[in-house]
Amino acid sequence: MKKIKIIGGNSLNGEIAISGMKNAAMPIIYACLLVKGDCYIDNLPDIRDVRICLEIIENMGAKVERLNESSVKINCDGAVGGSAPSELVSKIRASYYLLGAELGRFGKTKVTLPGGCNFGSRPIDQHLKGFRALGAVMDASSDEYVVGEAPDGLHSANIFFDLVSVGATINAILAAACIEGTTIIDNAAREPHIVDLANFLNTCGADIRGAGTETIKINGKKELRGCSYTIIPDMIEAGTYLIAAAATKGCIKITNVIPKHLESTVAKLEEMGVKIIEEGESVIADGREVVLKPVAIKTRPYPGFPTDMHPQFGTLLSIASGESTVIEGIYEKRFKYADELARMGARITVQNERASFKGIARLHGATVRATDLRAGAAVVLAGLCADGVTYIEDVHIIERGYDDIVGKLKNVGADIEYIDC
Ligand code: EPZ
Repeated sequence: MKKIKIIGGNSLNGEIAISGMKNAAMPIIYACLLVKGDCYIDNLPDIRDVRICLEIIENMGAKVERLNESSVKINCDGAVGGSAPSELVSKIRASYYLLGAELGRFGKTKVTLPGGCNFGSRPIDQHLKGFRALGAVMDASSDEYVVGEAPDGLHSANIFFDLVSVGATINAILAAACIEGTTIIDNAAREPHIVDLANFLNTCGADIRGAGTETIKINGKKELRGCSYTIIPDMIEAGTYLIAAAATKGCIKITNVIPKHLESTVAKLEEMGVKIIEEGESVIADGREVVLKPVAIKTRPYPGFPTDMHPQFGTLLSIASGESTVIEGIYEKRFKYADELARMGARITVQNERASFKGIARLHGATVRATDLRAGAAVVLAGLCADGVTYIEDVHIIERGYDDIVGKLKNVGADIEYIDC
């Protein structure tokens, strides 16, 4: 079985180039189903989830041509709705974007239930609410498929989401982009990857305004044409490597980032005493000589503190001085990383949605698991700053969302390698 082996204790110093954003790349790949002609997508991260998305649309009849490790040409003219292979769809959460893309393209959809990180129940009631407002009859009663059809055709509508949902907002945009008339999405999620999807579709000729705010207005366009588009950098990957500098008392410059997307992460690192310098599309985190201060974190939808940075900060709080807390406001089961960090000596108490961290000087190496994608990043960070050797199992989960994490960390001085045992 492939594992990651880390001999901890090295301070990490140097530069890391950030890859394209996983959670922007996947909806944009599926959005190509709405577009006629060739789409040239650049800055794709070379990660498992993106490879699965490309394989799914290829199995549906799209033409996918890899131009290099981060660029692809996609033509979905020959794609057939309802034909996404179940064994691939069930591997990733983002497959549920096929619902919106198929409704928008074919007026009907049939998609296997998605997979993805297990944080407890991850309902899709808001996705269904959006589709139904647009005139689709949806049936999610099966424990295998979600099916939907618009017998009288889809129509524009006003959608008001009961809660802020990234996925439901993205699915409503995909379903409504080509519907004649004006669709308004209220209480929309504001994440940068939603703005990236809207920018991609607008480059193809759509008319989507207000993405990044809580109200999105879509004037549907009958036909969208292929374009060339570059995916935004991954703010979660970027934040993960800033924490690596802080945790190992090193100094890392991350390049190809949009500092604005990192604001809440950077603010929390500065509150902990880490020196941050922003230079154009680069950010430097200097953790040398820093005694990490305890902080309180509450995860919230963007622009609040991102839940996807919670586990990684859990590692940093475990070695900060004093007592810190994290209140998780998005997923009830996001704390599974705590058990793995506890094997390395971390003193974490979890009660409902709150975790308390009693910081210790050093973690110690152990054999741990990647229980989900960001928990996997947390144990990598823990191995980097622990005394001794750490072995990480289930590394395929980390490879879902981090492009060449072992290579990137090795390049800044980490003693990290894949081993087979
Ligand atoms: C996306 O998940 C991301 N995944 C997650 O990243 C991220 O943690 C999350 O957004 C929040 O930012 C992808 O983009 C593939 P939500 P998503 O709908 O869309 C509840 C990672 O590590 N909810 O915003 O599923 C839901 O249960 C992954 O990259 C409903 O109740 O998140 C959750 O509590 C992990 N009903 C909250 O809303 C719904 O219909 C936010 O979920 C939809 C969501």
